[in-house]
Amino acid sequence: MNPAMFLVEAGTDLWDQPWLPGGATCRSCHQDIVADMRGVAARYPQIDADSGRLVNLEMKINTEIQSKSGGVPLTEGAQDLLALSALIGFQSRGMPMAVAVTPDTQPWIDKGEQIFQTRRGQLNLSCANCHEDHWGEKLRGDTISQGQINDFPIYRLAWGDVGSRQRMFTWCMESVRSEPFAYGSDAFLALEIYLAVRGTGLLVETPGVRR
Ligand code: HEC
Ligand code: HEC
Repeated sequence: MNPAMFLVEAGTDLWDQPWLPGGATCRSCHQDIVADMRGVAARYPQIDADSGRLVNLEMKINTEIQSKSGGVPLTEGAQDLLALSALIGFQSRGMPMAVAVTPDTQPWIDKGEQIFQTRRGQLNLSCANCHEDHWGEKLRGDTISQGQINDFPIYRLAWGDVGSRQRMFTWCMESVRSEPFAYGSDAFLALEIYLAVRGTGLLVETPGVRR
């Protein structure tokens, strides 16, 4: 009954089929998705060992496509990228969110918290004004949640479509009539890792369904 499960199925096809240059598949190196990707999504965003940069799961998937297989990275919001992200996320379903807090990630987490607390837009509201001060209360037809991210990518009824964490942040920023940050920007990455750490211990529910 969860429309986002179609995304997981599409991801399974991408995992198995030779769409990468030279006929490679994700499976040619990783074999079994269940064995190899269990628990992986629960610890992203994380510092990438090769580049030393903070990356979220979608960025890591794109690195895999580009550097391991010589393929063209997928654009943010592309169905194929969401599908691979949902497939990998699904392997962590039921496992606690466990993003590492280290001297390398702490500055990012602090930056994300600061963004979360900053008022913005013509409505002059911070993320925390809604998701901390008023969770459980009604905003027009919606019940305001705590703004957790343990179930992304999600199928959202209001969109009639699937979307990433950053698409959700964009929607919230536009709802307070502020200029959203760019997809893949440091600001969105910081928000993402802050929210992941704030949700430590919540069980991964990917792929979720939301109103
Ligand atoms: C040429 C072999 C190769 C191919 C092809 C490949 N990978 Fe990987 N992948 C690896 C290796 C080796 C690692 C572990 C080292 C690292 O993280 O870079 C890895 C790591 C990963 C990780 C991070 C795991 C973790 O524990 O953080 C993800 C996610 C991933 N691959 C997804 C994919 C996807 C999706 C594809 C297909 C688009 C793919 N890989 C194709 C070799 C490959
Ligand atoms: C005016 C109130 C408001 C503000 C300010 C706001 N949001 Fe939201 N947000 C909502 C509503 C309404 C929803 C949809 C219902 C829900 O899940 O709360 C939502 C949903 C979310 C969700 C999805 C939660 C889930 O369980 O699916 C996340 C994550 C989120 N917001 C993050 C943010 C971030 C980050 C900011 C700041 C950049 C922000 N929000 C600012 C009202 C707000």
